[in-house]
Amino acid sequence: MSKKPVRVAVTGAAGQIGYALLFRIASGEMLGKDQPVILQLLEIPDEKAQNALKGVIMELEDCAFPLLAGIEAHSDPMTAFKDTDYALLVGSRPRGPGMERAELLSINGAIFTTQGKALNAVASRNVKVLVVGNPANTNAYIAMKSAPDLPAKNFTAMLRLDHNRAASQLAAKTGKAVAAIEKLAVWGNHSPTMYADYRNATIDGQSVKELINDEQWNREVFLPTVGKRGAAIIAARGLSSAASAANAAIDHMRDWALGTNGKWVTMGIPSGGEYGIPKEVMFGYPVTCEGGEYKIVQGIEIDAFSQECINKTLKELTDEQDGVKHLL
Ligand code: NAD
Ligand code: LMR
Repeated sequence: MSKKPVRVAVTGAAGQIGYALLFRIASGEMLGKDQPVILQLLEIPDEKAQNALKGVIMELEDCAFPLLAGIEAHSDPMTAFKDTDYALLVGSRPRGPGMERAELLSINGAIFTTQGKALNAVASRNVKVLVVGNPANTNAYIAMKSAPDLPAKNFTAMLRLDHNRAASQLAAKTGKAVAAIEKLAVWGNHSPTMYADYRNATIDGQSVKELINDEQWNREVFLPTVGKRGAAIIAARGLSSAASAANAAIDHMRDWALGTNGKWVTMGIPSGGEYGIPKEVMFGYPVTCEGGEYKIVQGIEIDAFSQECINKTLKELTDEQDGVKHLL
């Protein structure tokens, strides 16, 4: 094994998403089958959580993963994030039935101030941060603002689950393979206001919009289905999505680290003003990745309906941002 191990911190490591995530990271699905990893796992100090974490670690050991070069258990972000190259911030409360994700801000927001500060103090200066804990965009914004010595571009929020959900709905509608879908975009917040946009998408080179040719389906079925999918899963399972969320986190980090070969994917990233979004708003954009960097897809035409959708999701994000000023 020639590559040097990289350090991957995961918070909420004993939670549902953690359980669906860690084994896949350790098996090389996130950073490649030739990349050894050291897992730096963070849980709250509570005895029950730390015991649960011990159990997860025993299971990781029992897999004898060839790429797993080390496992550490932590209860303090200042040690968990030490020199970390990748940080997956999952740990936080999920919503229950009847709640909106934004309602979690008052419960979860403060976690990301503490963790942003810890990343700022001890993480690798090139750390790639993915925030999964909800509301993911605004929590990522809080972490970014709490880490002034790290580049803002290192902080991202997870919109990939919305992207994958949208792709899957389009494949089902057209009867085509999900892997054949290109140029799909999801704009804005990981919330029901997100705007899944298939106007430019193709399947096997054919226009998805032309294949479907049903604007009413777009507005009345597709957008609400993707936007409210998280709530539908909570209603069905009694728990929020976990395996699909972990899968999206793997996809997000893998694509960021290893590249997308020109394929569009969606990432929540701090705006640099693109498409009229104010700077620093943590916004879902279509991006391509290469050499460990993401790049926003430029030059997409925004029609009146799309602009209306983008304005709505932006307004929600700026309201959320205003609501967390006291944490910054
Ligand atoms: P869970 O309750 O099963 O697990 C969360 C874990 O985080 C718990 O073990 C808890 O002890 C731990 N935790 C809480 N505060 C912590 C802190 N300060 N530091 C470290 N660990 C901490 O929840 P889950 O189902 O794994 O979901 C985790 C989060 O991910 C929720 O906020 C959920 O809403 C969110 N989520 C986001 C997406 C997305 O697409 N962005 C998708 C699914 C779930
Ligand atoms: C999801 O989209 O499934 C997650 O964000 C969980 C939730 O609360 O919807």
